[in-house]
Amino acid sequence: MGSEDAGSRVLSGMRPTGRLHIGQYHGVVKNWVALQHQHQCYFFVADWHALTTGYDDTGEIEQHTFDMVVDWLAAGVDPAVAVIFIQSKVPEHAELHLLLSMITPVSWLERAPSYKDMQARLNDRELATHGFLGYPVLQSADILIYRAGGVPVGADQVAHVELCREIARRFNHLYGREPNFESHCEAAARKMGRKASRLYRDLRKAFLEQGDGEAVARGRALLAEQRNLSSGDRERLLGYLEGGGRIILPEPEALLNEQAKVPGLDGEKMSKSYRNSIYLREAPDTVAHKVRGMKTDPARVRRSDPGEPGNCPVYSLHQIYSDPATLEWAADGCRSAGIGCVDCKLPLIDAINAEQAVMIERARPFEEQPDLVRCVLQEGSEKARGAARETLDEVRASMGIAHQ
Ligand code: TRP
Ligand code: SF4
Repeated sequence: MGSEDAGSRVLSGMRPTGRLHIGQYHGVVKNWVALQHQHQCYFFVADWHALTTGYDDTGEIEQHTFDMVVDWLAAGVDPAVAVIFIQSKVPEHAELHLLLSMITPVSWLERAPSYKDMQARLNDRELATHGFLGYPVLQSADILIYRAGGVPVGADQVAHVELCREIARRFNHLYGREPNFESHCEAAARKMGRKASRLYRDLRKAFLEQGDGEAVARGRALLAEQRNLSSGDRERLLGYLEGGGRIILPEPEALLNEQAKVPGLDGEKMSKSYRNSIYLREAPDTVAHKVRGMKTDPARVRRSDPGEPGNCPVYSLHQIYSDPATLEWAADGCRSAGIGCVDCKLPLIDAINAEQAVMIERARPFEEQPDLVRCVLQEGSEKARGAARETLDEVRASMGIAHQ
């Protein structure tokens, strides 16, 4: 089971783009599968994000959502440990988006690198919309509503996680100062017991008086260990530790996905729009056909011409799929012209198909009974709503609109 420690929650979202290719598997989803065993993970289909750029063409969102989620499940994302859901089924994201938009300066959004880039790239449609400008605020709401500590993203999304941190900081600064904050903190500290509360005060003092950064880290660890603190008290003490107010929305860290070097069939980056992809769960003979047609080192015009594996996308795939002995066989055979490219591709085809066979098997029940997928998403969305509501209640209260 994933840990329930809120500090270690991990969240990531993906736009509904349909079937995944092996580049997305090795670059992103494989990482999710590993993380789900170390943290409480929330993975969601960012269908509202799809609307920020694709509002004029929404006919395929549902099919794409289904296909993508089946691929997540096939890849081993496990609904028994991770919460899998659809963004629009958790309307709490939208409320937090609205509230955060009240405190986010427009200049922060205009500065986001994706804003101008995407407008230039997708110049065939109107993107000077309110929704598109505010898209990093929506993304911040996605993250902050679960108080996620880690956000696995690609390099292109790191700036958005940074912006999310700035929004969280501004929020805590504005709303983390409640009346009688200090006496609340003193009372909360006493709940930890004599020994722990003395240590907490010493660590706080060491930081505030001597700037001892180590003390802050120890103080945070101490608070994480405490079992009889409410989450509200923990946030107060976290903020008080550093001399600030209450931390209502903790700042997340970006967990950079390792940029997997998965080349497409033509040697360019694998991408759906380049039509150079091998898809997850593709039939074995389709995989064989695609790999046989792959570009190789152009120096190998004839079978007798030696080649350089470093110039060959087939070899890059070998590096992902093959064991050291096969790699050595391919590299030596290539450089000495001891093997032909056709020979070189055979063990690669087998290795890709072996990985795919497991996924095809895992996906079978979901393909046969699409209702199972709906169940997973329904259950996940309900779990997510529970967690999201807790944050939203505190956000409303701290902003002075609890109306109780
Ligand atoms: N914006 C991300 C993308 O386009 C998807 C996304 C939406 C996301 N919300 C998120 C990723 C929250 C991480 C966390 O790829
Ligand atoms: Fe590429 Fe293998 Fe051919 Fe060398 S032998 S060019 S590594 S496919």
